[in-house]
Amino acid sequence: MTGHPLEIKADGNARLKGRVALVTGAASGIGRSAALLMARHGARLLLADRDGERLAEVEKVIRDRGGEALSLPLDITDEAAIEKAFKEGTARFGGKLHVLFANAGINGTLSPIESMPLEEWSKTVDVNLKGTFLTVKHAIPYLKEQGGSIIITSSVNGNRIFSNFGFSTYSTTKAGQVAFAKMAALELAQYRIRVNVICPGAISTNIDESTETLPEVEEIRIPVEFPAGDQPLRNGPGSPREVANLVLFLASDEASHVTGTEIYIDGAESLIRG
Ligand code: NAI
Repeated sequence: MTGHPLEIKADGNARLKGRVALVTGAASGIGRSAALLMARHGARLLLADRDGERLAEVEKVIRDRGGEALSLPLDITDEAAIEKAFKEGTARFGGKLHVLFANAGINGTLSPIESMPLEEWSKTVDVNLKGTFLTVKHAIPYLKEQGGSIIITSSVNGNRIFSNFGFSTYSTTKAGQVAFAKMAALELAQYRIRVNVICPGAISTNIDESTETLPEVEEIRIPVEFPAGDQPLRNGPGSPREVANLVLFLASDEASHVTGTEIYIDGAESLIRG
């Protein structure tokens, strides 16, 4: 008899059995789905997000399915909060960390460069770049001894796609994450810490909640239309679960020789759009 498809696995197919995984942005979308999938594969989950309410719901789902999870409500731009939460969180699961999924991010304000308010530029850079840096920085002490896997969520924007008008700040942060991941991969290889970066195309999540579009974007828009649709593989966005499958692979020993690389997961969207 087979159980619930998302029931926590206790068998030999649990690819992360006994591992400790920390996920930022775990309350929603890609982070939530990756946390649930890694829990299903035997990982003990540290769930970080600034949305405490949604985070508690994810923790409950994992526990109800027989897994282990602990919520760490925090803002990834707050270094002191991260340091404290990572210390307390890892202590609950034996003081070690095996997987870090540095995923939290925002679209932020979409605007022409000319009218982009400095504080909006800084907000997006703070969350997406400073937040990623701080998350990785404070995870290293817990990953170092036994090695592990770091996965960072970048995007097709800033790496292959440059035609989403108003996205100059977001795209800059997403390109920066790829450079950061490659530097980190080389620097941390001596500790057997692998670092990879995933570049999703459009995925159905709550990302629109972190998006504000200024009306001035219309002034810079160049109309581009693809008669056959802009998602060649399937006429629509990907699902968080499809991205979670890639995260699980990169987190697991099956990816033991994969480090320092970006992986696109976009149904070939970025090849047609550019
Ligand atoms: P989402 O909005 O559903 O989830 C993002 C989560 O991050 C939210 O729970 C939010 O509370 C959290 N978060 C945001 N700022 C935070 C902060 N300062 N501190 C702590 N938590 C914070 O969005 P989604 O789509 O799951 O986004 C995850 C990552 O995927 C982001 O880095 C995003 O840039 C990236 N991405 C998303 C794509 C999409 O189409 N949904 C495409 C390409 C990349």
